[in-house]
Amino acid sequence: TLPARVRIVEVSPRDGLQNESTILPVETKVALIELLAKAGVRDIEAGSFVSAKRAPQMAATAEVLAKLDQKLLSRSSVRLSVLIPNLQGLDCALASGVKDVAVFAAASETFSQKNINCSIAESLARFAPAVEKALSAGIRVRGYISCVLGCPYEGEIAPGEVASLARDLTAMGCHEISLGDTIGAGTPLRAKRLIEAVARDGPIDRLAVHFHDTYGQALANIFACLELGISVVDASVAGLGGCPYAPGATGNVATEDVVYMLDGMGVETGIDLAALAEAGEFISGRLGRRSGSRASRAIAAQ
Ligand code: HMG
Ligand code: MG
Repeated sequence: TLPARVRIVEVSPRDGLQNESTILPVETKVALIELLAKAGVRDIEAGSFVSAKRAPQMAATAEVLAKLDQKLLSRSSVRLSVLIPNLQGLDCALASGVKDVAVFAAASETFSQKNINCSIAESLARFAPAVEKALSAGIRVRGYISCVLGCPYEGEIAPGEVASLARDLTAMGCHEISLGDTIGAGTPLRAKRLIEAVARDGPIDRLAVHFHDTYGQALANIFACLELGISVVDASVAGLGGCPYAPGATGNVATEDVVYMLDGMGVETGIDLAALAEAGEFISGRLGRRSGSRASRAIAAQ
């Protein structure tokens, strides 16, 4: 059985743009987030507070947050979040006024080193004080795990490794764990086995799935996970996305395609597909390329 309702976590302003080499103006990012809010997207990852050398596109995150139309966001009940790797990132997040942050670990040692320049254990030690400070300030913390279905450097990753890391992040205080198929290597039965392994340790509604679509498996993987009771899905309009430290990986699953699939199955998202597709067309235009969403292209061709 499928969930009656799915919460979409829109990651285009962060995952979608972090890998884009052309730095977009702050106004464009603000317009994207506001279009998403108008389309009914409630959870939006607006940017990240990481080293500007590592992700130059994210360097203006504080300016983006400061310029957003707060009235529109509160009227639309939007929750904004930002990605943070350490206490320094959390302090920027606190200063910006967001109520949600996300820390990001990896299930692969090599990926952890390439992405955040430390081991998995060191990353947990860095997150702990940031998570503690966030929670005491009333900020919710999400925990990402990358490479859950494969690593660009180490290949296969055992589901047990992912489950163990999910336990650590949950014990630290993360209210939700987003399982990231960073390189889009997963297929539906492996995705299911992974969810089953991680769900043994606690309620399934604290788990989210985050599929990149490198091999065209993302929608099939999402459907497989929904069948197990997953009801939080990360996605990015126009299928934008990628991680600078996952060479060859393409974008996230396109939000328009996910919403089209869920609409067709009677699963509620609260999102208006036509308005969402406009947001995707807007950002694709600003990046000078065709939308990576098949649903959006179909809508545009009608
Ligand atoms: P480090 O390389 O170990 O070095 O940084 P450091 O700690 O000595 O810091 C280097 C510089 O960064 C210093 O500045 C720090 O002040 C600064 P400098 O003295 O050279 O001028 N710095 C910061 N600046 C702003 N905000 C901060 C911050 N912390 C330090 N919070 C660090 C470690 C983690 C900071 C670095 O490696 C980094 O920023 N990495 C970026 C990683 C990243 O953004 N990756 C993409 C997101 S993860 C992802 O896409 C996967 C996901 O989508 C799920 C999936 O698909 O699997 C979430
Ligand atoms: Mg990602």
